[in-house]
Order: sequence, then C-alpha cells, then structure tokens
Amino acid sequence: MIRLATSADLPLLTALERAAGAPFRDVGMAAIADDTPASPGELAVFQTDGRCWVYAEHGRPVGYAVAAEVDGFGHVEQVSVLPSHARRGLGRQLIETVDEWAAARGRPGLTLTTFVEVPWNGPYYERLGFRRLPVEAQGPGLRAIREAEIARGLDRWPRAAFVRLRRRRG
Ligand SMILES: CC(C)(COP(=O)(O)OP(=O)(O)OC[C@H]1O[C@@H](n2cnc3c(N)ncnc32)[C@H](O)[C@@H]1OP(=O)(O)O)[C@@H](O)C(=O)NCCC(=O)NCCS
Repeated sequence: MIRLATSADLPLLTALERAAGAPFRDVGMAAIADDTPASPGELAVFQTDGRCWVYAEHGRPVGYAVAAEVDGFGHVEQVSVLPSHARRGLGRQLIETVDEWAAARGRPGLTLTTFVEVPWNGPYYERLGFRRLPVEAQGPGLRAIREAEIARGLDRWPRAAFVRLRRRRG
C-alpha cells in the first residue's frame, strides 16, 4: 500500500535509495550507483510538506517517491524501489500517486529528468506516457535543474527532461 511517509521512515528511505541505485553498476554507471542518496534531513523537507510517499509492505517501505513543483508542473524529484521488489508495478503506482497530487493542485501533468538510455529510466518513462522535452520547450525551473545536473557531471551519460500531460476528460 502507498501512504505518506512518516518521520520514522526517513532513515530507511536513505538506505532504500542507495540499494535501489545498485543496478546502475551493472550498466557501467558505478558513479551513479555510488552517488550519495538524499539524507533524512533533506527528505524531511518533502515529508513535512506531505509530498513524500512510501510503498509499504508489512509496514516497511520498499519504495518511495518525492514530488516538487517546477514551472507549474508536478515534478518527480525521486522515485526508488528496492531491487528485491522491482518490476511489480510499484514504481508505476508511486508515479501515479505523484500525478494525483499534481492533479489535486491543478497542475497539468508531470515532469522529471532522467537517463535517456538506461532501461528503467528513459524507455520506462516513455512506456508510462512521458515524452522528451527539448531545451527550448523547458521552463526556467527545469532548465536550472538540468544545468545543475550538467555541472555535477551527470551528462556523462545521455540525460534529458521528460514531460507527461494529463489526458483531459470527455
Ligand atoms: C525506476 C524504478 C523506480 C522503477 O521501479 P519498479 O517498481 O521496478 O517499476 P515498475 O514495476 O513500474 O516497472 C519497471 C519497468 O522498468 C524497466 N526495468 C526495470 N528494471 C529493469 C532492468 N533491470 N532491465 C530492463 N528493464 C528494467 C522495465 O520496463 C520494467 O517493466 P517490465 O517489468 O514490465 O518489463 C526502479 O527501477 C528504481 O528504483 N531504479 C533506481 C532508481 C532510479 O533510476 N530512479 C529513477 C530516477 S529518475
């Protein structure tokens, strides 16, 4: 089940994100696998604001997502699922939870940034209905995020912004 994160969850989420990153090692991206995960203090900003969700099994988080608002869109800041629980649709359900949060705030859809070629990043999000958002179509917030990522050296592997507009009813 998906529920809002509690403050007690936060140290577990840091460990969860580190474990979720391990598969990057298998595709030659050890630097990403070794990247420092969000600290409990950083996650607390999202948790206290009601925009950090966990997928809990037997009460224990096995996946989590955090959301932001960027250029008037909901923004998937992070989504992580333990490798032991991957490929069961938990990631998709967490992303849909972020989408519901964005919809409730009147936002037209979701954005995120990710690695274009990693199977569980770009191709996965495209399967979920996301499309690449070229630089010229990005708002200032998304451009700033991308510029900070480039400065951190993340574009050593192809990386891009993606968007998914919510379908209108009727
Ligand atoms: C991205 C992530 C949250 C997806 O979680 P999940 O619960 O496995 O997601 P779902 O079950 O909804 O879908 C998984 C899909 O990802 C792709 N995928 C996942 N692992 C894969 C792998 N090892 N090889 C190839 N494709 C893979 C597949 O398309 C898969 O769908 P399928 O099982 O139907 O083939 C999870 O892989 C993760 O935590 N990755 C590390 C952190 C990360 O990259 N986060 C995203 C940052 S933008």
